Parts: sequence; C-alpha cells; structure tokens
Amino acid sequence: MKIVVIQGPNLNMLGLREKNIYGPMKLEDIHAQMKAFADQNKVEIEFFQSNLEGELIDRIQESLGDADGIIINPAAYTHTSIAIRDAIAAVQLPTLEVHLSNIYQREEFRHTSLIAPVCAGQISGMGPFGYHLAMIGMTQILSEISAIKDAKAKQEK
Ligand code: DQA
Repeated sequence: MKIVVIQGPNLNMLGLREKNIYGPMKLEDIHAQMKAFADQNKVEIEFFQSNLEGELIDRIQESLGDADGIIINPAAYTHTSIAIRDAIAAVQLPTLEVHLSNIYQREEFRHTSLIAPVCAGQISGMGPFGYHLAMIGMTQILSEISAIKDAKAKQEK
C-alpha cells in the first residue's frame, strides 16, 4: 500500500510563516511524524511539495498506478483550482484533504473548498495533528478497500 502526500504553495514555509495561524512546526517535521506512522503500519509513503499548480496536477496524475491513496493540502489552491479538483476526480483514488487551520473560521474567501466534493473527507483546524488523523483515516480506507477486493476474489473462485 502506498500513500502520496501532496503539499501546496507556501507550505514549505511552515515554521516561519504566520506562526499564530499555522504553528511552529516545520513541514519536514510533520513529514517525519507521518513517515514514522507509515513505517509502523507497513505502508509506503512519498512526499511532494510545490508552489506551482501545474506541478501539483502532474503529481496527482502520476499517482495513478503508483499510489493507492492521496493526502493533499492544496493550500490557497483549495479555494481557486478547478484544475486540481478535476485531476483528483480523474485519477479516482481515495483522497483526504487536510488544512492546518480551520478554514471556516477565517476570511470568507477561505470558506469554499473546490476540492472537498471530490474527496473522501476533509480535516480542518487540527494543526499538524490533522495529518496524523489523515494517516489513520487513509490506512482505514485502504484496508477496507482491500478487504472488499479479497472478498470479491473469494466469491469468484
Ligand atoms: C491552508 C489554508 C489555506 O486557506 C491557506 O491558503 C494555506 C494553508 C491550511 O493548511 O490551513 O496556505 O490550506
């Protein structure tokens, strides 16, 4: 099982950027925690961050045939990018959307996620712990999918 973690613009600046909103933790520290969880649960994990919309779309497309699930924080593109939404819809992999801050508590332009309707779920406002929750959620989703596949294979025998 492989999970790809896709991080949008400005998330490379976590730890420096608006610490009152996003907290002091760096992206690499969040990823280290996710990697530890993945190792414990024998799940492969890969991380990708870009400030460019097209690169994020390319990585989503490349996940097809490469990964079983996607955890994505599209950052500001959450509120603007039909193209990222379409890429997620196109690959049809189970996807969880994560936001460090509670986007519904902030400026009105952040209240709309164009991404949420094509995701299995959204975690918003839990800080870095939200990524850990997404790991738990994604491993659960993937093990349910694999149990369904196993049951089908048995029936066909
Ligand atoms: C964010 C919320 C977005 O509105 C914002 O543009 C970000 C980060 C979050 O993780 O809380 O860059 O996705």
